[in-house]
Amino acid sequence: MSVVVRVVVLGPPGAGKGTQAMFLKERLGACHISTGDMLRRAVNDQSPLGLKAKKSMDKGKLVSDNLILELIGKHLSQEDCKRGFVLDGFPGTRPQALGLEKLLRNLDLQLDRVVFINVPRDAIICRLAGRRTCEKCGTMYHLVFDPPSKEGVCARCNGVLYQRSDDKEDTIAARCDVYKSQTAPLIDYYRKGGLLQEIDGLGNSDDVKGRVFQSLGFDVA
Ligand code: AP5
Repeated sequence: MSVVVRVVVLGPPGAGKGTQAMFLKERLGACHISTGDMLRRAVNDQSPLGLKAKKSMDKGKLVSDNLILELIGKHLSQEDCKRGFVLDGFPGTRPQALGLEKLLRNLDLQLDRVVFINVPRDAIICRLAGRRTCEKCGTMYHLVFDPPSKEGVCARCNGVLYQRSDDKEDTIAARCDVYKSQTAPLIDYYRKGGLLQEIDGLGNSDDVKGRVFQSLGFDVA
């Protein structure tokens, strides 16, 4: 039996939102919507959106709510999202959370769960500083926890691995501060709304996957 699930994955920078969202996408056949990935593609393409977003992203600040809601609105109504969706990096502010509710109401849909991956700041810094991403297929590695078999080369497609420009020490600190002031208040917001599942994000990504799946009532296999 196929299950339609609409989930938000919430957590600080580097908590493993993208990693867990990919596992959920594979398990559910749902669409994975990452605002960070969409914005990075727009920056690479030098589109008008990318040019507007780049300044904020380089400083570790959030892009404006209106831009983000416009981007999400276009995606949520697409065909592949009918099988459910996993939102990664969105909502990032209270106005975005309210905007999401409005978008879903207009589509006659509801959010099922918000999975909050809780990871302390020291672990975040280590995860982000060691992250490397394939420029061709987007596969993620970590220099210590999940290193590529050949240095600098993606094991999946032979693409070149790069370090994200916002994964430098001072930008990581700025992103953590922005998270604390603008995104973390959503934890209480969703807890009060009865949607929040809090997950301990420490341990390897398979351990965390087990907790995430269990919190949603899925088998891990
Ligand atoms: P975004 O890309 O969303 O960045 P983020 O929230 O800071 O999250 P990350 O992608 O850095 O980390 P993650 O939690 O997905 O962790 P990952 O799985 O990659 O946003 C970037 C920028 O875009 C923002 O700063 C902002 O400017 C803009 N933006 C995006 N959304 C926005 C919004 N809604 N509103 C406004 N602006 C927005 O894992 C990280 C590393 O750890 C990897 O190397 C991975 O291999 C490793 N890892 C994962 N899990 C584990 C584990 N369990 N143990 C050890 N290592 C692990």
